[in-house]
Amino acid sequence: MIAPDFWSIPPSALTPDELAQKSAALKQRLADISTLFSDVRFATSLAAEDMVITDAITKTGAKIKLFTLATGRLHQETVDMVKTTEGQYGISIEKIYPKDDDVQAFIDQYGVNGFYDGEEPKKACCGARKIKPLNAALLGADAWITGQRREQSITRTELNLEELDDVRGIAKFNPLFDWSESDIWAHIKQENIPIHPLHLKGYPSIGCEPCTRQVKKGEDIRAGRWWWLQSDSKECGLHLNK
Ligand code: ADX
Ligand code: SF4
Repeated sequence: MIAPDFWSIPPSALTPDELAQKSAALKQRLADISTLFSDVRFATSLAAEDMVITDAITKTGAKIKLFTLATGRLHQETVDMVKTTEGQYGISIEKIYPKDDDVQAFIDQYGVNGFYDGEEPKKACCGARKIKPLNAALLGADAWITGQRREQSITRTELNLEELDDVRGIAKFNPLFDWSESDIWAHIKQENIPIHPLHLKGYPSIGCEPCTRQVKKGEDIRAGRWWWLQSDSKECGLHLNK
């Protein structure tokens, strides 16, 4: 049972009709993307937004491949969610691992948990465990999809449905860009979508285990990510453009 002073799943603010419209629009977005592009890949962290997209991809039958960045520092619950999701939907999620040499180079220079020492080592760890694997995961794709939302962070307020990923020269889509946190949870409830167990324990946002903690009621939903750094550093670089 979650302690009452931590974040918990918010109630819905939508009418059933509004929710149905949102769901239909999401499915249409995914169908359009998979028609317009030939090799579309969806990056899933197994957190709530990504489960909404996974569910919609499988229900529309859109031709979109799924992958997850298996950083080697994820919670066991996240690792287990990959299997749960694959089993529930009868799909396969490709696990992209970091290269041993890159991880070792980070450890040699900073120590295994060196990311706690500041912005530069955190960037180096995310570089080895997330960004380089993301680049590898997207080789050959002409579009990719994320579960980002505008409301999530001050760094995401300008987010649009479609962007140019100018690092990789391909299209990038954020089909939930205009969804609120309560829209996500209303949809999950309505569609009976599997929930990452940490969302039931006070975690609104889930990344690597050593860099994610519970959030108190009323705190920013990303306050539990890299909490020891300044608020403008709360991105791992997956979504930075040039
Ligand atoms: S992060 O930049 O702070 O780590 P966040 O957790 O908000 O990102 O997730 C935003 C989107 O990035 C997710 O919806 C998903 O598309 C992608 N993403 C984040 N972490 C992963 C991961 N481990 N594997 C695949 N995609 C991920
Ligand atoms: Fe490393 Fe933390 Fe970034 Fe994961 S989130 S790659 S453990 S710094």
